Amino acid sequence: MLALQIWLVKALLIFLTTESIGELLDPCGHIDPESPIIQRGSNFTAVCVLKEKCMDYFHVNANYIIWKTNHLTVPKEQYTVINRTAASVTFTNVVSPNLQLTCNILTFGQIEQNVYGITVLSGFPPEKPKNLNCIVNEGRKMMCQWDPGRETYLETNFTLKSEWATEKFDDCKTKPDTPNSCLVDYSPVYFVNIEVWVEAENALGNITSDHINFDPIDKVKPNPPRNLSVSNSEELSSILKLTWINPSINSVIRLKYNILYRTKDASTWSQIPPEDTASTRSSFTVQDLKPFTEYVFRVRCMKEDGKGFWSEWSEDASGITYEDNIASF
Ligand SMILES: *[C@@H]1O[C@H](CO)[C@@H](O)[C@H](O)[C@H]1NC(C)=O
Ligand SMILES: *[C@@H]1O[C@H](CO)[C@@H](O)[C@H](O)[C@H]1NC(C)=O
Ligand SMILES: *[C@@H]1O[C@H](CO)[C@@H](O)[C@H](O)[C@H]1NC(C)=O
Ligand SMILES: *[C@@H]1O[C@H](CO)[C@@H](O)[C@H](O)[C@H]1NC(C)=O
Ligand SMILES: *[C@@H]1O[C@H](CO)[C@@H](O)[C@H](O)[C@H]1NC(C)=O
Repeated sequence: MLALQIWLVKALLIFLTTESIGELLDPCGHIDPESPIIQRGSNFTAVCVLKEKCMDYFHVNANYIIWKTNHLTVPKEQYTVINRTAASVTFTNVVSPNLQLTCNILTFGQIEQNVYGITVLSGFPPEKPKNLNCIVNEGRKMMCQWDPGRETYLETNFTLKSEWATEKFDDCKTKPDTPNSCLVDYSPVYFVNIEVWVEAENALGNITSDHINFDPIDKVKPNPPRNLSVSNSEELSSILKLTWINPSINSVIRLKYNILYRTKDASTWSQIPPEDTASTRSSFTVQDLKPFTEYVFRVRCMKEDGKGFWSEWSEDASGITYEDNIASF
């Protein structure tokens, strides 16, 4: 009997729905707010307002409203009937990142009819970006990086702003997969100070990092020295002479170097005292080596005053010290 009743009601509904399809394509009501974004851990209230036409049609009022989240019915204790057409639901301490909330009415015969649905997103406002720093890879555009702070769980845009005393540059907008760095669109101009900062924005707030002010020449990462070669000396079995070609940035700045060396079979590197290689040069003679031994070398460089970044290491080059005169005769 019950089954038959439900069948009848369903048939009736289908009949009615088909008959008045034009009207029912409209939702039966709406939820306010429409697409909420809330702070995680906060309380949230939504209101479902039914249309008069719909209430007449299904013979219901706000008492018949049923709320569901992700298809599960929300307990009645969380509902408040406001008036004949509207009922609200309240959630405390929302921690779910993404809540599908629907308003439904229980029509005659206990059939649930969906009225409206919304998605509630929760997250955090952006934190102040910290540790902003920029790097100018020689021959390329300037790249700035920062620490974006805690995960916001929301679409968050970071924009790198930069300006000279006289000119603003175009905004540098991050890509979604790299929210903590941006490659600016202009080539750096050396010996003029630039001011740079980051703005973070999402639906819950805006915040700006501290500004930094610098000369791009002080953020240079030179290309590594190239064509490193090693030659030995017939006169001195304890030395090897390294020569290399400096990166082109050497035409505008002076460089200093680090040189590492090891015997061919050693696993750890030794370093030439940095004070011996603290100024621009394109060769260096390594002393106190063992005779007739193969050594491997690598060299890197940076701006002489220590501002900026070390280059990558050059390619390794090796050479063999000359035989010891006494030992060989
Ligand atoms: C959320 O509601 C609960 C219960 O009404 C209340 O104790 C709490 O202070 C509210 N939290 C916030 C962040 O408003
Ligand atoms: C019922 O309450 C809702 C939400 O507060 C409001 O929009 C609507 O106008 C009210 N309806 C009546 C009939 O008072
Ligand atoms: C982020 O930037 C995109 C593209 O400029 C924009 O469509 C979107 O509304 C922004 N989102 C926020 C939260 O500011
Ligand atoms: C963020 O800033 C933009 C433009 O400066 C403004 O339109 C927007 O309302 C702000 N958003 C928040 C959440 O404060
Ligand atoms: C440096 O090395 C490159 C690649 O091995 C070679 O083509 C070039 O001729 C070398 N330059 C000089 C000046 O030796």
